Amino acid sequence: MNTIKNAKEMIESDSLRLRGKSLLSIGDLNSEQLFGLLRITQAMDESHKAKIKLMEYGYPRSVALIFEKPSLRTRVTFELGVRQLGGFAVVLGQSDINMGKRESIPDIARNLGRWTDAIVARVFDHNSLVGLAEYSGVPVINALSDVEHPCQILADQYTIIQKKGGLKGVRLAWMGDGNNVLHSILLAAGLSGMRVCAACPRGYEPKQEIVAKARELAGEPSGADKAKSSIQIVTDPECAMDQADVVYTDVWTSMGWEEEREQRLKDFHPYQVNGKLMSLAKSDAIFMHCLPAHRGEEVTDEVLESAQSVVFDEAENRLHAQKAVMACLIN
Ligand code: CP
Ligand code: NVA
Repeated sequence: MNTIKNAKEMIESDSLRLRGKSLLSIGDLNSEQLFGLLRITQAMDESHKAKIKLMEYGYPRSVALIFEKPSLRTRVTFELGVRQLGGFAVVLGQSDINMGKRESIPDIARNLGRWTDAIVARVFDHNSLVGLAEYSGVPVINALSDVEHPCQILADQYTIIQKKGGLKGVRLAWMGDGNNVLHSILLAAGLSGMRVCAACPRGYEPKQEIVAKARELAGEPSGADKAKSSIQIVTDPECAMDQADVVYTDVWTSMGWEEEREQRLKDFHPYQVNGKLMSLAKSDAIFMHCLPAHRGEEVTDEVLESAQSVVFDEAENRLHAQKAVMACLIN
């Protein structure tokens, strides 16, 4: 109950100074804000399970949910999350607004900004989010772009805290594509003192500027005890698994890269997380995947269905993490 009371006070007092801001990247947060959001995520989780309302807006807030790409988890958890906070969600699919083609992004943003209190958007091009944030006058939340997936990583870090008791010093091995999910993991690791070793085939490494930013964040004081994280990018999957507490993979072909699928199937084959590779991590390592999974490609059924797999906890925690984000950002 104390967590709930403290979280309520944190939200009401805006002690994290997030009110009115957008969340386009994990790098938009500082360490204090990241840990604050994770504490509020825990309170959202506890209040949901206790069937009590942690908070409800004084009047119903309206949130536009824009989806240029398909979604199960993000769509359901944002739509339900808005409702559970006492607001209304309007879902706009690609064929509804045809962003940037039927109408320019600045015009869409200035329309939505007149009617809604926040915009949540899943886009092909990260710059679309930047445009929505620049012109709408309301907080914009990244629900996945080609560059980042920050809400996923907030839920994932909460899941790691649940399973491992904290983040500082936790070793995460990433297998596969240097993609949007990895980018957010690297930045979150920099802020939280986690150690990440990412094994990516040559040519599929994460963006250099994100690796540099994550290392910069890692070098800064991280939390009260100034914990340092470490960020390594390697090509050898076996070496990345050494001493791993968490093993994380994602699809080899993200949405938007489908024309490269055949080549990627060949290039990523050695990075499949199967029982043999998983056995190289610590014996109590957990397996994570943002989902949807392509079983038999990046992960085998054996691993996905094992006792080490926490993929459905991650999915559940999207709801709690995104409620925390909306409660802190929306005016
Ligand atoms: N992990 C995730 O974002 O899932 P969806 O693509 O189904 O929203
Ligand atoms: N990297 C994947 C994540 C899906 C949730 C994609 O962008 O398609």
